[in-house]
Amino acid sequence: MSAVRVAMLGCGTVGAEVVRLLREQADELAARVGAPVELVGVAVRRPHKHPELGELLTTDSSTLVTRDDVDVVVEVIGGIEPARSLLLEALKAGKSVVTANKALLAEDAATLAEAADASGADLYYEAAVAGAIPLLRPLRESLVGDRISRVAGIVNGTTNFILSAMTATGAGYADALEEATRLGYAEADPSADVDGYDAASKAAILASLAFHTRVTSADVYCEGIRNVTAADIAAAREMGCVIKLLAICERIPGADTESVSARVYPAMIPATHPLAAVDGAFNAVFVEAEAAGQLMFYGQGAGGAPTASAVLGDLVAVARNRVLGGRGSRESAYASLPILPIGAV
Ligand code: HSE
Repeated sequence: MSAVRVAMLGCGTVGAEVVRLLREQADELAARVGAPVELVGVAVRRPHKHPELGELLTTDSSTLVTRDDVDVVVEVIGGIEPARSLLLEALKAGKSVVTANKALLAEDAATLAEAADASGADLYYEAAVAGAIPLLRPLRESLVGDRISRVAGIVNGTTNFILSAMTATGAGYADALEEATRLGYAEADPSADVDGYDAASKAAILASLAFHTRVTSADVYCEGIRNVTAADIAAAREMGCVIKLLAICERIPGADTESVSARVYPAMIPATHPLAAVDGAFNAVFVEAEAAGQLMFYGQGAGGAPTASAVLGDLVAVARNRVLGGRGSRESAYASLPILPIGAV
């Protein structure tokens, strides 16, 4: 069987782990896919920082994504541009796409999904939300026959790490943020984490998949943790509570039509609540569905290796689809549910 050939865009914390796992587990992955999975190119801005990648390196990402010898494009550069243009070029050229890019998906998943539908290519993005936790495919596939009413939980590892450290040790906000950055949890610009935008992007993706509608990050009410003080944490403790940054996505019943609400803010939760025990860079998400009832997803939500695990899972899935000559799950048709104005709930 001929190899499934992979191009990678970016090689930072997550990308380096993807390369390591691809190399270390090459034989096992080939057995699971039914063909070797071969890395044929890696586009980076500063090739001298990746001597171990040798001739795989290029700075010309635009040429790489449409090369004839590329079947799958893995994107781990993040941000809106040039990622959006590159992935659209790849999808139009019929390449399968695996991306961890939550900001892009939260802004413009519709355009990417349309391009994928038009060419029959796969678009998978499990790593975009909650790191290693299998969450998007359960929403997209396992629960697609059910009716989800609520998806809520902790979806940002950096802020959970900071709040946990402030709660457990009385560490100051700045020291805790520095440690989260050192451990590779925080975004390049940590304001995306601490101001809640990262969690808001994830909330938009979760709400879109859960409620089969299109929610963008601009639709999500968003408040970060920058103003949470040691005094707030002590006051919460006095009341038997802890402070967690929550993302809450709900289907809101109405007289004539349902609506969707998505919001992110620091909330006080009882110390006895299961979410109160979610510490460090871990994430936990509750899903409530009519028939399934309540489900809880828990695991490492940030960091190179956990996020690379999700990328690899998607990579194996799209590679298998190519080997079998088919396409994986497409997203369901999207209804257009009204989105409640920011601040309405
Ligand atoms: N900065 C993100 C977080 C990385 O802390 O959760 C994972 O998306």
